[in-house]
Amino acid sequence: MFSPSLSQLSLLLLLSSNAFAAPSPSSSSGSSMKLHRRARHAKTAEEWGAWAKSNRDTLIAKYGGGGGGSVSKRSSGTNLLVNQNADSSFYGSIAVGTPPVSYSVVLDTGSADLWLADKDCSGCNNIPRFDYSASSTFKNTSVPFSIKYGSGAAAGTLGQDTVQMAGFSVESQVFAVCNQISDGLLDDPVSGLLGLGFETIAASKAPPFWESLVKNGAWDQPLMSFQLTRMQNVSSATELEAGGTFTMGFTDSSLFTGDIDYNNIPDGMETYWIQQMSSLTSQGSSISLSTATQYAAIDTGTTLVGGPSSVISQIFAQVEGAQPATGNYEGYYTFPCDTDVTVTMAFGGKSWTVSPDDFRVAEISRGECLGGFFELDTGTETPSWIVGDTFLKNVYSVFRYNPPSVGFAQLSSTALQMNSGNEPVPSATIGSVAAGVTAAGGSGGSTQATNGAVSMKMTRGEGMMMMMIIPVVVGLLSLGALVPLA
Ligand SMILES: *[C@@H]1O[C@H](CO)[C@@H](O)[C@H](O)[C@H]1NC(C)=O
Ligand SMILES: *[C@@H]1O[C@H](CO)[C@@H](O)[C@H](O)[C@H]1NC(C)=O
Repeated sequence: MFSPSLSQLSLLLLLSSNAFAAPSPSSSSGSSMKLHRRARHAKTAEEWGAWAKSNRDTLIAKYGGGGGGSVSKRSSGTNLLVNQNADSSFYGSIAVGTPPVSYSVVLDTGSADLWLADKDCSGCNNIPRFDYSASSTFKNTSVPFSIKYGSGAAAGTLGQDTVQMAGFSVESQVFAVCNQISDGLLDDPVSGLLGLGFETIAASKAPPFWESLVKNGAWDQPLMSFQLTRMQNVSSATELEAGGTFTMGFTDSSLFTGDIDYNNIPDGMETYWIQQMSSLTSQGSSISLSTATQYAAIDTGTTLVGGPSSVISQIFAQVEGAQPATGNYEGYYTFPCDTDVTVTMAFGGKSWTVSPDDFRVAEISRGECLGGFFELDTGTETPSWIVGDTFLKNVYSVFRYNPPSVGFAQLSSTALQMNSGNEPVPSATIGSVAAGVTAAGGSGGSTQATNGAVSMKMTRGEGMMMMMIIPVVVGLLSLGALVPLA
């Protein structure tokens, strides 16, 4: 167990009406699970590896090997991801209820709530929906829930049920069952969203799934990680492709090389996964960042990279022929498609390169391509940068609970091979339960209208969809004031 630091506590008191209650560990037996299979396919090497590991962990958990009873089992798990619409979003699978039914959910480090479309959702025609009446363990807590993201909103009520993922189980997990979801937020077969940010920004005010696990010591190591594939420049890529890997409790050393370069989350700012941008280059030229602190939320749920307009314009000023886009594309820039634009970013440590193939999002008119960095007007309430998949596809990323930090490492050749577009799309791989905990926090507090949308021009064109799944939480400004940084 980690005890919260003083600043974390003030933060919690500031943002959450919920006490920092410690969940109590309990054992949870694995049970047979209905999986929605998309297509039959042979397991890939990665899948076999994941299967072997999860199988081994299950056996260790079942038959001991760590000695002792069922309490405080530690484990690790892997969930293979799906890349949807050429890098628009990345989803994994969870199972909910008794008997467990699996659902595809966008994995979003930029928010902290779990929600699913429910069977009463009117505008959710093709999406597989949660049928709460079919789960014997579902409890309706009747607390209204609503959340607004950069690219849409969802609303419904809070409930509790058993949630499983990658061999982990949390009993009485609070999540929202949503009957109102804005158009375009979910794309079949995705049923909802799993927030992997900190409880402090949860609109439900309930402990997020991942945080319940890590606080109870369910993980071998207090971290989770992502490897995301790139399909944007693969002409044969279809709507759904292999999306990479999400791990909990360990880093998969087959997917990266060299050291993981960790940088701390600024003290007391465990909200989004915040980093301080320390340097930026475009086409080899250093871009001056203003003296104001350049906070960045590292966000798997956002497709591109958004930043302050003054800095974004400097990035494009280094690119010959680049110009601000207009109409639907206001806030974006275009540049000649035959230009390779190389941007590097650093967050206090090593500098990382965004490949020209990620910067070049799509050809939107003859010879003119849309750039992967856009102007974001976050006001003063959120980090000024939202660093999404345009960046994250270039690194192995690690989200570490303790010490609170984000780490990046170079992708291995094994990881890069998954960018071919020839890998099978994984089916739901939840695994049997190796470690389980019970969530604390009861039904969650009542949800107030604390969330507002970040202004973001969402653009949908031919086969192109940009998501920005990050909520704005009022209070982050005071957070900054709480812990002034030089
Ligand atoms: C939960 O209860 C509330 C209030 O009684 C109701 O409006 C809502 O539809 C219920 N939701 C579910 C998922 O049962
Ligand atoms: C796609 O982009 C990556 C990264 O720049 C590059 O290594 C790869 O060769 C590209 N693939 C194709 C098919 O152009």
